[in-house]
Amino acid sequence: MKGIILAGGLGTRLHPLTKATNKHLLPVGAEPMLYHPIRQLTGAGIRSILVVTSTLHMGDVVRCLGSGEEFGCHLSYKVQEKAGGIAHALALAEDFVLGEKICVILGDNVFEYSIAPYVDAFEKQEKGARVLLKEVGDPERFGVAALDEHQVLEIQEKPSNPKSSYAVVGLYLYDDQVFDVIRRIQPSLRGELEITAVNNAYIRKKQLQYDICRGRWTDAGTFESLFEANQIMLSNHNNILPHS
Ligand code: DAU
Repeated sequence: MKGIILAGGLGTRLHPLTKATNKHLLPVGAEPMLYHPIRQLTGAGIRSILVVTSTLHMGDVVRCLGSGEEFGCHLSYKVQEKAGGIAHALALAEDFVLGEKICVILGDNVFEYSIAPYVDAFEKQEKGARVLLKEVGDPERFGVAALDEHQVLEIQEKPSNPKSSYAVVGLYLYDDQVFDVIRRIQPSLRGELEITAVNNAYIRKKQLQYDICRGRWTDAGTFESLFEANQIMLSNHNNILPHS
C-alpha cells in the first residue's frame, strides 16, 4: 500500500499564523504538524509516501521533511497549483500510485491512536474504499455519515442539519478505482472537487466500509482545533498510542 499526505490548501482560517508559512508546518506538541501523518503511515508499515502541497510552500515543506530518511520512509512530492479541493489534490497522485491500494491522510488531522488496524482491515478488504468515523459534538464542521447498523448510507459535507453525530475523519483508504471516480465527479458549489463526492460514489457502488476511530481525534484547521491538536500531542509526548 502507498501513502498520500494532502497538505495543500490556503489555511485561511488560521491567518495570520499562516501568512508566512504553511498550516502543516505549524507546531502540534513538540513537532511540526506534518511529522504526525508521516509517523502514522510508517507505523502502519507504509514506506512509500507522496506529499502534496502548494507551490508557495513546497520549499519549506521539503526543507522540513527531506528525503524521508529521518522517518525511515521514502518521500516524494507533488505541487497542487491551486486549492481545487481534496479530491483535486488526490488526483495528482495517480502516477505515483501505479495501481496499488492507497492510504490518504489529510495533513491537518491528528489521531491519538495508531491507524494501523484500519490499514490492516483495508488490506484484507477485497476492493472499494474504507473510511473512519468519529462521534463529535460539532458535526456540521465536517463530512457527516448517515448510518444504519451495517453501513454508511450517505455522507453530507458540512450539513446545517446533520443526520448523525459521526464525522468522516481525514483518513481515506481506496483501491485503484479512485482516480476514475474523481474524473467523474463535478465541483461543489464552493468550486472544489470534494472527497465526500468520491466517498458517495463508492457508497453507490456498495463498496464503502467503515471503522470507528478509537481515542481522541481532531483536525487542526481552526484556532480551537489547533489548540486541541496540541493538547492531544503534548499529553502523549507526541507519541502515537498502540492498540493493546
Ligand atoms: O478533517 C476532516 C474533514 O476534512 C472532513 O470531515 C471533510 O469531509 C473534508 O471535506 C475536510 O473538511 P475541511 O473543510 O476541514 O477541509 P480543508 O479545506 O480544511 O482541508 C483539509 C486538508 O486537506 C488540508 O489540511 C490540506 C488538504 N487540502 C485541502 C484543499 C481544499 C489540499 O491538499 N488541497 C486542497 O485544495
